Amino acid sequence: MNTETIRLIRPSINLVDVLPDFEKIFSSGIFSSGKYNQEFQLKLKQLIGSNHISLTTSATTALWSCLKMLNIGKGDEVLISDFSFPATANVVEDLGAKPVLVDVSPDTFNSEASEIEKLISNNTKAIIFVDALGNPSGVSKVSKLSKHYKIPLIEDAACSIGSSENNINCGNIADLTCFSFHPRKLICAGEGGAISTNNKNWKEWFDLKLAHGGKKSDGHFPEFETFGYNFRLSEIQSAMSLIQIDNLKNLIKSRKEIFNFYKIELNKFGFEEQKINKNAKTNYQTIAFKVPKIKSRDQLIYFLKDHKIETTLGTYSISSLKYYNSKYKFNNINSRYLMNNSIALPCYEGVDCERVVDTIKRL
Ligand SMILES: Cc1ncc(COP(=O)(O)O)c(C=O)c1O
Repeated sequence: MNTETIRLIRPSINLVDVLPDFEKIFSSGIFSSGKYNQEFQLKLKQLIGSNHISLTTSATTALWSCLKMLNIGKGDEVLISDFSFPATANVVEDLGAKPVLVDVSPDTFNSEASEIEKLISNNTKAIIFVDALGNPSGVSKVSKLSKHYKIPLIEDAACSIGSSENNINCGNIADLTCFSFHPRKLICAGEGGAISTNNKNWKEWFDLKLAHGGKKSDGHFPEFETFGYNFRLSEIQSAMSLIQIDNLKNLIKSRKEIFNFYKIELNKFGFEEQKINKNAKTNYQTIAFKVPKIKSRDQLIYFLKDHKIETTLGTYSISSLKYYNSKYKFNNINSRYLMNNSIALPCYEGVDCERVVDTIKRL
């Protein structure tokens, strides 16, 4: 019997592939703000088709920077998809604004334009739409809504590099889009993130503020026009990301095959997959199913763990988390249901999905 642990995720990056670039970085001594940074920015821009990319240390710092740039703070409200990683709301909370947590569709796991519209108030200063688990279904409708109300739309695309809707890539749909290069994402930099936008003034703000408020000048020293932060991605992280961006299409193709295998096998037992709208394409960053009502999701996770298979919940219902529940008391039934009844299955190139399915069948 195969007793090797099946991990939930394995980044698709090998040490041998990055070593030549690491050697170049070490011999040049340039570990920050160098050519790998520039190249990765350019490659991302080409992949997405947007005008401007700013690299950051994570999706969290990318989201925070977007809100800060939009001058969001005390007294403001930000509408947020409730089914997400807590970071999406934490950044709003940190700036003193109120996160208004919008329930999601039980099919796509995303918030819908009609639900968002009901919650728009005079205090709404931004909308954060989350591409849950990589799925951008519905973001274009929300983009239309945001234009109608003249409220800036930030797409939390932490999970959705390479996804698209209506043949437009994530990163080129919303006013601002934030990506993550955390190890569970399709591009793994260890940690890392990026902001995509078509607004030149905003890009200039990020260039200045995410690098201490300093600008290159004609003299020997940068010109510090203002105060700022340091949210820069390093050269090592950029080199790692560059290697993977060329392989992104293959990676999505292999994830899709894994998804189709799980879907065919698990639908037979009442497991339901996350639905992707016809006009949308997901990158299958996380492959999650709703567990049939007759079974306990937690029991399934523990059973699989006992059989050396790592799984986890789809993601969180932010409004149900201790801090947000005690402070705001939103009652988002669908997102709570998804948090308690979804399971994310192992998905990476070469994963033994037959063993995963066979083990589920045994329970
Ligand atoms: C939807 C979503 N937003 C934001 C984040 C935060 O990303 P990072 O770890 O790069 O800060 C995550 C992380 O998993 C996420 O899933």
